[in-house]
Amino acid sequence: MIPQPADLAAVIPQLAHKRVLVVGDVMLDTYLTGDAERLSPEAPVPVVRVAGETIVLGGAGNVARNIIALGGQPTLIGQVGNDPEADKLRAVLDQHAIAHDLTVSPRRPTTIKTRVLARRQQMLRLDREDASPFAADERNALLAALEPHLAAHDVIILSDYAKGFMSEAFMTGLHRRLAHLGVHPIVLVDPKPANVACYAGVTLLTPNAKETGECAGLPAGNRQEILAAGRAILAKTASPHLLTTLGPDGMALFVSTDEVWHIPTVARDVFDVTGAGDTVIATLALGLAAGQDLLPSCMLANYAAGLVVARVGAATASPEELAEALHRLPVPAVTRWA
Ligand SMILES: Nc1ncnc2c1ncn2[C@@H]1O[C@H](COP(=O)(O)OP(=O)(O)OP(=O)(O)O)[C@@H](O)[C@H]1O
Ligand SMILES: [Mg+2]
Repeated sequence: MIPQPADLAAVIPQLAHKRVLVVGDVMLDTYLTGDAERLSPEAPVPVVRVAGETIVLGGAGNVARNIIALGGQPTLIGQVGNDPEADKLRAVLDQHAIAHDLTVSPRRPTTIKTRVLARRQQMLRLDREDASPFAADERNALLAALEPHLAAHDVIILSDYAKGFMSEAFMTGLHRRLAHLGVHPIVLVDPKPANVACYAGVTLLTPNAKETGECAGLPAGNRQEILAAGRAILAKTASPHLLTTLGPDGMALFVSTDEVWHIPTVARDVFDVTGAGDTVIATLALGLAAGQDLLPSCMLANYAAGLVVARVGAATASPEELAEALHRLPVPAVTRWA
């Protein structure tokens, strides 16, 4: 009944070329690196002499990057500004061979987070963003961009980083288009608690422990509390399923209100948990796109997350690394919580 590593290994080749539509808040993460050997004569601050610049995809872009790393075929839909950063973002997407259709806002910038690092020590982060809710023209442009892709996708990820794309009006527009086309894709949401009212009728949310408590308006510290909070979210959103990620405690999969599985983490060394949630939703989506059930898909996602937390930055996992991990790591003791 509980999938074994050999069963999961057999799923990995099936992930290849599976299509996932990723819609959400796209961002650019820029790292400026150099050394800081003197203080500024202008103010009591260090002077960082920039020697290198690295640009990586953030937000929904990092979800797409995880899908492509696993051999899947993401299409990324989001909004950028009318600025040079948008061109940089498109160039990085092209480099990764990620299909994209980015709408352009006439009035807000591309979301960009710039970190200044001296000898690996972060000195400063600069955020350039306007996270106010999308105006009607921005929302309609996004809906028009995603509409042609709906019929060809069985799985959609909504990656909500609270930068403005998610709203009740957006979701009404999405549900209306799905109904009109007569398609019923699986809709997975990486949620933000402030937007919980928007997620009614989706297939599954992937909140972390803190977000689970906030979405439910209940404590979510121990097993009993997580069960209660998870059930409250299922009731609140009328979603059939829920996946709460629990950091060092792995994840809890609510197949339904009374069928709940706990999957402990397989991570051995933990260096950087950044982006682990993106890895989870990307792997889960591909498993479901390959026709797998929720439990094996989540178990694979848990392995992928266990791999990326051992690396610096928002890392990704490849099919080969996933297969190797299944072979090498002890089998996690999956148990039924309810
Ligand atoms: N400290 C940790 N030790 C072991 N495994 C971890 C740890 N943190 C995360 N993981 C693994 O990564 C998965 C997702 O992590 P987490 O619950 O932190 O998601 P998240 O908060 O949404 O992440 P983020 O938003 O930073 O991408 C967990 O289910 C677990 O498998
Ligand atoms: Mg997260």
